[in-house]
Formats: sequence, structure tokens, C-alpha cells
Amino acid sequence: MQLDLLYALWCFLFVSQTLGACSQPSPAFPLPVYSKHQPTLLDALQKIQNEVESIVADKTYDTTAFSIEVTSSKQTLWSSFHTAKDRDASRLGAEEVNGDSAYRIASVTKTFTTLGVLQQHTAGHLNLDDSVDTYLSELKGPQSGSIPWKDITLRSLASQLSGLPQDWAPGDVLRNFPDSTKLGLPPPNNSASRPHCYIYDEYKPCSEADLIMAVRSLKPIFAPDAKSTYSNIAFALLGLVLTTVTRMPYEEYIASSILGPIGMSNTTFITPSDYAAVLPKNESWYFSVDEGVDNPTGGLYSTSSDLSIYLRYILTHYNGLHTGSNWLQPASFSTGSSSYYGMPWEIYRAPNLLPLRSLPVTFFTKGGRLPGYVSIIALAPEYDLGITVLVGGNPTLLPKLLKVVSAPLIEAADEVAGLELNDRYTGTYIATDLNSTLTLAYTPNKRLYVERWISNGTDFLATLSQIFPGALDDGAWLQVVPTLLYVDEERQIGERWRALPVPAERGERKEVWDDFCVTNMYDVAYDGRPLNEVVFWEEAVELTALRIRLEKVKGVEERE
Ligand SMILES: *[C@@H]1O[C@H](CO)[C@@H](O)[C@H](O)[C@H]1NC(C)=O
Ligand SMILES: *[C@@H]1O[C@H](CO)[C@@H](O)[C@H](O)[C@H]1NC(C)=O
Ligand SMILES: *[C@@H]1O[C@H](CO)[C@@H](O)[C@H](O)[C@H]1NC(C)=O
Ligand SMILES: *[C@@H]1O[C@H](CO)[C@@H](O)[C@H](O)[C@H]1NC(C)=O
Ligand SMILES: *[C@@H]1O[C@H](CO)[C@@H](O)[C@H](O)[C@H]1NC(C)=O
Repeated sequence: MQLDLLYALWCFLFVSQTLGACSQPSPAFPLPVYSKHQPTLLDALQKIQNEVESIVADKTYDTTAFSIEVTSSKQTLWSSFHTAKDRDASRLGAEEVNGDSAYRIASVTKTFTTLGVLQQHTAGHLNLDDSVDTYLSELKGPQSGSIPWKDITLRSLASQLSGLPQDWAPGDVLRNFPDSTKLGLPPPNNSASRPHCYIYDEYKPCSEADLIMAVRSLKPIFAPDAKSTYSNIAFALLGLVLTTVTRMPYEEYIASSILGPIGMSNTTFITPSDYAAVLPKNESWYFSVDEGVDNPTGGLYSTSSDLSIYLRYILTHYNGLHTGSNWLQPASFSTGSSSYYGMPWEIYRAPNLLPLRSLPVTFFTKGGRLPGYVSIIALAPEYDLGITVLVGGNPTLLPKLLKVVSAPLIEAADEVAGLELNDRYTGTYIATDLNSTLTLAYTPNKRLYVERWISNGTDFLATLSQIFPGALDDGAWLQVVPTLLYVDEERQIGERWRALPVPAERGERKEVWDDFCVTNMYDVAYDGRPLNEVVFWEEAVELTALRIRLEKVKGVEERE
């Protein structure tokens, strides 16, 4: 039995060394703690500010305004605002854009709808794995060739796995090309079955009846759960589900269960007044369009200051660090090897953001776009950071801003995390009554690792090499990585970490299987206790399987 286990472990280590060159554990540090006075962070933010200013100085952006904020789970760390030089003389909007200026946030609204559904799931009022026709009985019944509603769950809807088309009323070519015959299209001849609302009728808001009628004649793009594709309809339907379950209008539910309790007082489905509004030239008309039954998919107005409040809420309630729900996980693949859908997150694992390491940096984002407005919220939960970028005007500005903000920010955050790791954990820990010593060191690449380990007079790194042959060869190191759990969860003391052999990277990754890595915080026991568990207490470390507590040596005399 024991031999089988060791053999399995040995195989795992062997496999991870021969195939994957990407097996550095992540996160390698506890959540960084930021202050506005950290030089590393200040330098990065100054650099970001300069780049942002130089981008927006381009004449292309004379009619464009933006609001950007960066927040940790505790406080807003930085913000930058810009007012368009050139606006509609007849409808100027906010005189000076700031954190309280209102934008249409479009599809970012989908995260609020999903959060509402999650709340109702947690409360036991609905089940994510129920089919949508359980709650919308209008969809029940035989529908040969059309959408198989009985196989589409609320989870598939929220994860972009429903196979539903993207749009109904807003998705018609007639919206932008009323003179369609000039394009080689036949004259329109379907007005009886088109909804009589939104783009088909002076942007009159569509009703629930319009939506239900329209979706009954839709054709699926994929079978349910087969393959992801972006659907706005899915979220309009989730909004109706919330209305059914809570017996409250969707907008009222979101306001009373999310916006109010979190304190997002400037986020609303009701058009804010012009004095606080960002109104892009030529497109200010869209600011007042009522999205009606599509509100759950894109109807909210918000401000960067409110969205920072929202991101702080997500970072403290849904980051997976607490027992219970973790909202920040993938649900399906998307196009590209680094992109995924969550529920309803658009996830990107940036492969080469950190120059020193091959670790990808994971962003959970949700973007939105409507005429005149483009927006994104992006969370980097391992760094405890959230970014909001709201743009009114030329949409090409947003990806540029996101790039110049996110890259230097995460690089600085990574450095801060490293400095804190070095400050708090490195040093020599010794026993009082036994020749036992643990020396932890830090480098930016290895992070926190075991430099020297004596256990009762024996070189314990040599012992580990005996137990796990090869695991510490060829430049591999024994890294100490957090599990982000505590012995005492309530008081958040007794940090549980694990010591893990990490193979050295071998130059550039270019072979076919180089990116193939599976996570395994290996767990082998000695005498029934986890051999590699390391628990940090205030100025002490406890080695669970060795049944010993080592005290941190104070001062500098330890270093010989
Ligand atoms: C909402 O915006 C107003 C200005 O329009 C501002 O005075 C107020 O502080 C904002 N509320 C929050 C919670 O930010
Ligand atoms: C227009 O639609 C009607 C009803 O579906 C049909 O009877 C008629 O032939 C169509 N006309 C053209 C020109 O396609
Ligand atoms: C606004 O509309 C005018 C007239 O149609 C056009 O010349 C101009 O390029 C438009 N400006 C923007 C920023 O779209
Ligand atoms: C330390 O080592 C000695 C001799 O090898 C052994 O007898 C003793 O049990 C060990 N003590 C502990 C606490 O590991
Ligand atoms: C403790 O053990 C190490 C490794 O065996 C040995 O080199 C060292 O001399 C010992 N120290 C004492 C004080 O016995």
C-alpha cells in the first residue's frame, strides 16, 4: 500500500518533470496587502498615469471620455478620469467626469443578474441545475426543430453554454441598414412576426410577451452544454426566472438584494439625469433608451466609484478563500488556448504578463458594449485587485487603456507580494530542545523555499530526496506555498502551507506538451500526518508530521 502510494507519487513527479515545464505553484503567496505609499506601487501608478494621458491626447479621442479605477479588496488605490473635449452642444452631460459620472455599463449587467440567481440558489428558492422551463412554463411543450428548453439549465444559461443565439430584437441588420435592398438583400417581408419594439419600433422597450413569442421561434446554434457561444437572450431569460421566483420585478430585486445592501447608490436601471451623465457626441440619444425586458442582459447605469464597491464585494465574498461558494471559476472553453467562460465571466489567463516566470495571470472580466459606451470590470483575485474601465465615445480606447493599466499594475503587485513574502516568512526557525532547524529563503523566481532543513540532527532535504528519488535533483527546489486555509478559520491564525518540490524550468517552452501541467499539492503521510504540511504561527512554524514547533530566530546573528 505504502509502496503503491510512493510509486504513484514518484510517477507524478516524474511525469511533471518530463512533460510540463510550467508547474510552478500558484498562488505562491498570501493575498498582498497594499498601501498607497508603497514605492513599487506608486512608481507603477505614475507610469500608468503618464501612458493613459499620452494615449488620450490623440485627436481620435477628442469626443471620448473615460473613468478608470483600481481597487484592492480594502480600498480604491488609484483612479483617473477624462472629460471629452468635444461634446454635443445641445446635450453636454457631466461638466467634469469623475468617479460619480454615470455610464451605460451594458453587459456588465449580466454579472448582477448572475449574482441574483446565485443568491436565490443559495437561499434554496431555485436550483442552478434545473431546466429553464421549470420556472418559465410558457416554454414548456413540444418544439420539434426549435430550442430544447427542457435540456437547458439555469447554469448553462449563465455559463454561455445554452446553445441559444446571441440576440433577438437587437440583432437585426435592419437596425443599421434600413435601406437593405441596396445591399442585395430582398425587401423586408416579415413584419408580422417581428417584435414590435426596440429597433423595429423607435426603441420602444420590449415586453416579456415580446420576448417569449420571439424565443419560441428561435433555432439553436448548438445543443445545450455542447459548446459555448455568447447569448444575450440567455440573460433576458434569467431575468424572467428571477422575476418568477422572487415575485418581484427583476429591477426591484437587483436593487433591493444587491445594489442597496452593497451601497451602490449610483447604480440604477433608471436613466440618471444629464448633469451626472457621460454623453458621447452623436450617441447621447442612446443614454436614454429603455432596454425593457433586456435589462438583465445590459440595462444598468453605473459609475466607476460604485463598480469599485462592487469589485471589493466580490473580492471579499466570492474569491474562493472562504468556505462556501467560489464564483471565480471557469465553466467552459472559449476560443483560444487562454480564454474561458465562467458564469458569466470572460476569463483570460495572460500567459506572458510576468517577465520572470511562466506563471499565467488569471483575470475574471466582464465587458459590455452599447452604442456610445464600452466598459469592462476585471478581477485578478490572486492579487486581490479589481480594475474598472468605462469609456464613452470611441470604443477603440478601451483595450488600449486596459493594457496599459493591467500589465504594469500586476507586475508591481507581484513585486509587492514577493517583498511581503520575504519580510514575513524568511529566516531561521529553531527548536529549543532538539537539533532541528528550518531556514526559509526567498528569491523572485523560487519564491519562498527551504534553504536548509535539519531534523533532529539529520539533513532532512537529503531525507526527502531518499523518500522521493529525483524530486529535488536538477535544480529543483522545495517551495513553501500557501493553501490560504487556517487552523483556526474564525480567528484567521495558524496558516496552513505545503512544501512542494518544484522542478526548474528548462529554457523556453516550445515543445508540443510543454504547457501540459496538472495541479497536485502532493500529500503523503508520515505516521498518519501530512508530511509536507507547514503551519505558520506568529514568529513560529509547526511541522505537522515531525510533531515539532520551531521558533523564529530574532535579529541577525542567525545568519551564519
Ligand atoms: C453618487 O453620486 C453623487 C453625485 O452625483 C455623490 O455625491 C455621491 O457621493 C455618490 N454616491 C456614492 C455612494 O458614491
Ligand atoms: C411576403 O410574405 C407573405 C406572407 O408570408 C407571402 O405570402 C408573400 O409571398 C411574401 N412576398 C414576397 C415578395 O416574398
Ligand atoms: C457625428 O455626426 C456628424 C454628422 O453626421 C459626423 O460628421 C461626425 O463624424 C460624427 N462624429 C462622431 C464622433 O461620430
Ligand atoms: C531524535 O533522535 C534520537 C536518536 O536518533 C532518537 O532516539 C529520538 O527519538 C529522536 N527524537 C525526536 C523527538 O525525534
Ligand atoms: C546538528 O545537526 C547537523 C546535521 O547533522 C550537524 O551538522 C550539527 O553539527 C548539529 N549541531 C549540533 C549543535 O549538534
